[in-house]
Amino acid sequence: MDLGKFLSLNLRLVKLRRFLGSLIYPIQRDRLARHHNSKISEPLITPGKILQVEQTSRGGKFSFEHAELEICFLTPDLVQIDWKPGVPPIPYGIVQQDWSEVETTFSKESDRSVVSSSALKVIVTANGSLEFQNTNGQTIRQELPPLHRSEEWIHQAQLRSKECIYGLGERATSLDLRKPKSKKQQIAAYRMWNSDRPGIYGSGVDPLYLCIPTYLSLDKSGSYLVFYENSYPATFSFTDVENSYPATFNFKDVATAAFEGGALRYYFTFGSPAEVLERYTQLTGRPLLPPRWALGYHQSRWGYETEEEVRKTVQGFETHNLPLSAIHLDIDCQKEFRAFTIDPDRFPKLGEFSQELAAKGVHLIAINSPGVKADPSSKLFLEGKAQEVFCRRADGKIVTAPVWSGWCAFPDFTNPLARHWWSRQYEYLLDLGISGFWHDMNEPAVLVLWGDRTLPAFTTLHHMESRGGDHREAHNVYGLLQARAGYEALCEYQPQHRPFIVARAGWAGLQRYAWTWTGDIETSWQGLRQTIPTILGMGLSGIPYSGSDIGGFKGNPSPELYIRWFQMSCFCPFFRTHCADNAKPRTPWSFGEPYLSIAREFLQLRYRLLPYFYTLAWEATQTGHPLMRPLFWYDYDDERLWDIDDAFFLGDALLVCPVVESGVRSRNVILPKGHWYNFWDDTLLEGENQITLDAPLEKIPLLVKAGKILSMEQEQKLVLHIYAPVTEDKGQEVQAKIQNSYTLYSDAGDGYGAWRLDKFRIVRNDNSLELSWEQQGNFAFPYQSVQIHLHGFQPSQAYIDGKEIALEDKYLECNPFEQVYFQGR
Ligand code: GLC
Repeated sequence: MDLGKFLSLNLRLVKLRRFLGSLIYPIQRDRLARHHNSKISEPLITPGKILQVEQTSRGGKFSFEHAELEICFLTPDLVQIDWKPGVPPIPYGIVQQDWSEVETTFSKESDRSVVSSSALKVIVTANGSLEFQNTNGQTIRQELPPLHRSEEWIHQAQLRSKECIYGLGERATSLDLRKPKSKKQQIAAYRMWNSDRPGIYGSGVDPLYLCIPTYLSLDKSGSYLVFYENSYPATFSFTDVENSYPATFNFKDVATAAFEGGALRYYFTFGSPAEVLERYTQLTGRPLLPPRWALGYHQSRWGYETEEEVRKTVQGFETHNLPLSAIHLDIDCQKEFRAFTIDPDRFPKLGEFSQELAAKGVHLIAINSPGVKADPSSKLFLEGKAQEVFCRRADGKIVTAPVWSGWCAFPDFTNPLARHWWSRQYEYLLDLGISGFWHDMNEPAVLVLWGDRTLPAFTTLHHMESRGGDHREAHNVYGLLQARAGYEALCEYQPQHRPFIVARAGWAGLQRYAWTWTGDIETSWQGLRQTIPTILGMGLSGIPYSGSDIGGFKGNPSPELYIRWFQMSCFCPFFRTHCADNAKPRTPWSFGEPYLSIAREFLQLRYRLLPYFYTLAWEATQTGHPLMRPLFWYDYDDERLWDIDDAFFLGDALLVCPVVESGVRSRNVILPKGHWYNFWDDTLLEGENQITLDAPLEKIPLLVKAGKILSMEQEQKLVLHIYAPVTEDKGQEVQAKIQNSYTLYSDAGDGYGAWRLDKFRIVRNDNSLELSWEQQGNFAFPYQSVQIHLHGFQPSQAYIDGKEIALEDKYLECNPFEQVYFQGR
């Protein structure tokens, strides 16, 4: 039999076994679940009467008849609240444990106690309701006494009438989770249970792969963020008061968080969106700087069957003069879809091949799913079994479920030994020249014909750092901990490189280890439209690096849909084309002209913008701010911006307005305050207006904020686009002088060596514009020269460090300087 026939027969056998597995597994799962489905009939109880209060060094402790409460200030504006009983969480999501002292005061009045810091007051009433006030006495959040029954906790807070709610990780609805704009996007309750959406999902589907119990509230009377450190399954809703609540409160709408187990621990912080994200990521961690190449373009598909096919794809990029940073290898590269394997028949010389690609600047990323084929012929399985690293049941049996390779065992990443064991497995692929990993199916997902697509919740037992627990608690942190193991492996085996992992599932804190993408989004205009709020919502939940399969996962986009998706993704942190195995080949040249030329323009723009992207990535390491930001980010007092989710900021200079409808050649947007330049023709636009922008097929409406600098690079040159500040920007009085600054970050692009910051300052006077430059850090200036392009300012004379120079063109080419002074208007 020839190789082709043998491979295809083998594949059919694997698929048949997979099908049988997906039929048998849910029968077993449902049988196990029946024993645990005894409905709890106990009533919900409130904490009851307050019995005792006690001041502590950071706050206070309160004993109620049926519950204990502890309030602990971590900083003056960040407070940890603990309601017990319940199993306290293992701090998988938390990065900072030690906090410097906070001065607090405690006062006890007849019916309430007040615990305060210099910034925040927490008022605890005798029945267990809590109120958070700022120092002006303004109420920012008001909570009802929590309800408790058996292992469950229900926690509710008042929603103010116009308040918007964002976050909860990855959601397929509008940006404001409270008021979905279209029927399609409506989700009655948001579930916390990381879930595979096999092959396809669209707006309104919930939950998705990456749930995070964190939300940000925006309101005129004070904005805040709440993070529930509880990984149990939970349901969040933002609607009418539940009937079940003893009706002593007359709130119209409430935010409800209902947990199925664990203690009720949460954190509260308040301030502007930027401030609360800073605090939240101080608590749960900030991303490290990615390798610079990761911010370039990635090409992928499920269905690159052989090394030769991948080679041809890379050649296609060369032939069509398209830049490329990475190629992703899906499960096709594995031997019978098994973890940490490479099929020697289809990828016979991966080591050499990866070097061939590296010489062209192309990195290989390999897929990796957590399931290990439970097969006595598998060394990996036997090793894992001997080391007792797999999830087990109470009777000691290893839990197995079907995934791509057949019946699999699942490493218990809540066991440090298992994480370490898993970490060791990456070495083999790293030695073959793989540069990064793509963690898929790590909810963990299993293949089923019906019902919940994961391990049995009650009967799968986990180590939980020795304290023990079941899959209900471990499920949502499973992908997070796999990412941690992968990240540790990459740090250990390639200490000279920065880790690059893209993980489908995760939880609070995933940003410390990995990027993500929006999974199997449907191929449709609505799918493209949905991607924007989904990515923005993840950014507001602390995950700054995300993107979507350009063109959608399954199915074949029209050329127009592909190109519009491509244009939008050009401004997303993760820029990758990917599709299912049954979709037609999808590359920037698949659709011929004019689409190829348009894609090339945008690819080249992306690569020119790398200094800007890379600086944003560096900022994220310092602040936790997402690269893609909602329109209200800088101007959160303007209510009109609160629910805009078909446009976004990239950093503070670029406002991107994607086209998300077929045949559309212009679109509207409400501009935030300030002045804006049209990126394509420098037209100046006034903010706080609704404007219409042209959107011919070859362009995406793109605006640049007046006063900002867009840093680009081209052929060894640093290209600084200066968008002149507009003098009326500072309010009623025409200001004589406007100042703005921009810091550019550079380093070698990988590793942990020297870096530099180039700090530019613009000063605009009525008839002059001055640009000064200060340098910091030890990394040598990486460009041969500097080009300065002025937008919105017509220079008549220019002086570099005091010396007049001839102005010939639209731009000025020079060497590094301390000050450039332009006269003109
Ligand atoms: C899942 C992933 C998808 C991948 C496929 C095959 O559906 O979400 O990106 O191509 O599995 O590995």
